[in-house]
Amino acid sequence: MTIPRTASRNLLLRQKGPLQRFLRTLSTTHPPRPNPKRVDMPRPSSYSLTRRSFSAAKSASHNNWSPPKAGEELYTTFIDKGGNEHKIAVSKGDNLLDVAQANDIDIEGACQRSCACSTCHVIVDGEEMYEKMTEPDDSENDMLDLAFGLTKTSRLGCQVIIDEALDGIRVKLPSMTRNAQASDFSSQK
Ligand code: FES
Repeated sequence: MTIPRTASRNLLLRQKGPLQRFLRTLSTTHPPRPNPKRVDMPRPSSYSLTRRSFSAAKSASHNNWSPPKAGEELYTTFIDKGGNEHKIAVSKGDNLLDVAQANDIDIEGACQRSCACSTCHVIVDGEEMYEKMTEPDDSENDMLDLAFGLTKTSRLGCQVIIDEALDGIRVKLPSMTRNAQASDFSSQK
C-alpha cells in the first residue's frame, strides 16, 4: 500500500485515535517518498541542507523584548537541553523566540522570524496545552517538516504568540537543530 504523496509526516503525527495508529504503522513501513512536484520556499543559494551538519550553536539575540508590567504577567517555562527549567514572566503578544533570546535561553532564530528555517523549533510539553494553540499555518508546517527531532507537539518558537490561554506553557528545546545562520537569510531582506 502506498501513502499519498501529499500526506506530510507532520500531518500523520497529528491524527488521533485508531486512524493515528493506522497511519503511524503505515508511515513506519512505507516512509513517504520525496514529492518531485513540491515547491519549497525560496532560499538563498548559499543555504543547502544537504551540505550542512547539525548544530547546537546559539545565534545572537536581536529583539526588543521587555518584561511585562506588574499585574499583567503570564508565565512560560523553557526546559533547556540539559533539562534545566527557566520560568519567565511574559506579556500577552510576546512570541516564544523573542522571550527565549532575551533571557539567554539557548535557541537559534536564523531567519529572524520569517518562518523560513526550523532553528527556533520547540516542543510543547503536554498535548493538552498544544491543543489550546492556534493551528500552525502551511508555512510553519513546511518548516516543521525540516526540523530535527519533530514530534506531534512541535512548533516554531517565533510563530507561537502568548495569550491568556497559553499562560503556564512549558516548552522543551530539542537537543539539536539543523544548522543555519542569520547570514544565510540576509539576502532575502
Ligand atoms: S526563526 Fe526561522 S522560523 Fe523561526
